[in-house]
Amino acid sequence: MWLWVTSIAGEFWFGFSWLLDQLPKLNPINRVPDLAVLRQRFDRADGTSRLPGLDIFVTTADPFKEPILSTANSVLSILAADYPVERNTCYLSDDSGMLLTYEAMAEAAKFATVWVPFCRKHGIEPRGPESYFELKSHPYMGRSQEDFVNDRRRVRKEYDEFKARINGLEHDIKQRSDAHNAARGLKDGEPRATWMADGTQWEGTWVEPSENHRKGDHAGIVQVLVNHPSHSRQFGPPASADNPLDFSMVDVRLPMLVYVSREKRPGFNHEKKAGAMNALTRCSAVLTNSPFILNLDCDHYINNSQALRAGICFMLGRDSDTVAFVQFPQRFEGVDPTDLYANHNRIFFDGTLRALDGMQGPIYVGTGCLFRRVTLYGFDPPRINVGGPCFPSLGGMFAKARYEKPGLEMTTKAAVAKGKHGFLPLPRKAYGKSEAFVDSIPRASHPSPFAAAAAVVADEATISEAVAVTTAAYEKKTGWGSNIGWVYGTVTEDVVTGYRMHIKGWRSRYCSIYPHAFIGTAPINLTERLYQVLRWSTGSLEIFFSRNNPLLGSTFLHPLQRVAYINIIGSAVAFAKVLDGEWTHWLKVAGGVFFNFWVLFHLYPFAKGLLGRHGKTPVVVLVWWAFTFVITAVLYINIPHIHGPGGKHGAHGGRHSSHHHAGNSLHFTVWP
Ligand SMILES: *[C@@H]1O[C@H](CO)[C@@H](O)[C@H](O)[C@H]1NC(C)=O
Ligand SMILES: *[C@@H]1O[C@H](CO)[C@@H](O)[C@H](O)[C@H]1NC(C)=O
Repeated sequence: MWLWVTSIAGEFWFGFSWLLDQLPKLNPINRVPDLAVLRQRFDRADGTSRLPGLDIFVTTADPFKEPILSTANSVLSILAADYPVERNTCYLSDDSGMLLTYEAMAEAAKFATVWVPFCRKHGIEPRGPESYFELKSHPYMGRSQEDFVNDRRRVRKEYDEFKARINGLEHDIKQRSDAHNAARGLKDGEPRATWMADGTQWEGTWVEPSENHRKGDHAGIVQVLVNHPSHSRQFGPPASADNPLDFSMVDVRLPMLVYVSREKRPGFNHEKKAGAMNALTRCSAVLTNSPFILNLDCDHYINNSQALRAGICFMLGRDSDTVAFVQFPQRFEGVDPTDLYANHNRIFFDGTLRALDGMQGPIYVGTGCLFRRVTLYGFDPPRINVGGPCFPSLGGMFAKARYEKPGLEMTTKAAVAKGKHGFLPLPRKAYGKSEAFVDSIPRASHPSPFAAAAAVVADEATISEAVAVTTAAYEKKTGWGSNIGWVYGTVTEDVVTGYRMHIKGWRSRYCSIYPHAFIGTAPINLTERLYQVLRWSTGSLEIFFSRNNPLLGSTFLHPLQRVAYINIIGSAVAFAKVLDGEWTHWLKVAGGVFFNFWVLFHLYPFAKGLLGRHGKTPVVVLVWWAFTFVITAVLYINIPHIHGPGGKHGAHGGRHSSHHHAGNSLHFTVWP
């Protein structure tokens, strides 16, 4: 009898979890951005545009672990993307505070003066130089084939020189610093400074770390590498003897590029990537304050120059004022052809996220995501149309594919309704001390924040304000990390940050276009892969045990969205419990033994059933049994390695590691 009960209970559980898995997939939706309409409505004949401002955040933490050339490529692809230059700003956050990163970005800005006009002139795709020059063929459909071939050869040469300079930077910086230090006649024991090209000492981390100039202990730096461009088109010079590139018909302006390294001090919890994103949010508010923010990891580049427009299209479409963020799928290059570890995550991105789009929207996966700035400030959506239990209109639940017609809904009514804090959803002091920052909030949420391009004045006062809002102490006793910005205190700040928006009634959208919008490099081996899975399962558990768990709290969560969030958790519980790295060794062994028996125990009724009355065990049962045992055993043997490559405090570690980055490119697999 008890065997029968166990077996039936097992069947019911499997049936139930299957249902949980399928329910949120009832209404997958394909959205297609209509870029022609966007162009027609927002671009003017004189080359100017009424598209909203867009701040792009690239975060890096270490120029060696995250190769600096790849970060430079990422920045170049952003600068060359097809978006009105005066509305587009690229912020690079460097958590290492290294001069190497800064000078590499300065080099990238220099190379961009050739690369970007070249891309515009010939409609180059993709616009990351490394991936472009790696292409086997460069077909050209334009008119002047010969011109193109000549230009390409020239730019290729420039790119090779650029790469050589980047590779030589480390050596150059060291040599220059040695020369300066020698000229000063340093005594033994005196700190050996790192010097910038202009003959001043670098304020960030020094090559030979010393007091106030080491990782985790240095001043904040905000440097504008490329100034905000003028509002009218600027044509380049015609070809000449020493410059064969003819840019006389091409707009040669570049988008603004800002290098940010927030202040780090011992004794402060800097909150890794979430902290860096929050610092960037404030810094960009003081400088450009664009109503939209795109978040990109430094190992991702833009592979489709229309990607930014596609994302913005989903923000400006009919009924889009309740969209908090637009999530792009993560696509990868360098995955082995058999995709042994399912690095592409096709089911997750093309199945699950697309399905969620048919309800309230995909979850936020940490990179390749376009945000509406005001949602990060704790604003509520202007209205609720997600079909939560209190709002039975299941808006759009059974709608078929819809085309996004931009320009019909451009206001953010959220801000117009004044609450008890005036324009702000939270008390003024929750945002921190900076008056300039708090004053920027109503402007970011103004009914029509993109009527005219904001004048950007990067004068000394503004820059020092931008530095002030990125200090280590700024967030003390504020709402940052709880009600405002990226959420702290969780291994998956991304999932939780998106979740907090969904439960307020905001929606999100999934934007998958071809050629793929953003491309990153995939984790290669099983160790890295398992680590991602672990991190993600732990995050789901955290949501479940938070005060806003999807079962009980969160009134404004769409019913099926709720099921989806619960389902992530349900499937993750078993894994996370067993794989959680906080367990002591003893517990791990005990857990391992227990888990093995647990699995076999569940298989027993099944085996027994197959055995029937004949008393002879079919071979298939034995094989499966042995197979299961081996798999669970192997899983356990692997546990010591899953803290990320290099062990518990390893290079790419997450939870325990000083390096904030690796954890954050999520590549979910646990999704059943
Ligand atoms: C990047 O874009 C190009 C077209 O510009 C496309 O052929 C290629 O497949 C894309 N790369 C990936 C990895 O999708
Ligand atoms: C996986 O790759 C990381 C670095 O990319 C490395 O540190 C680790 O040792 C590798 N693990 C295995 C099992 O090869």
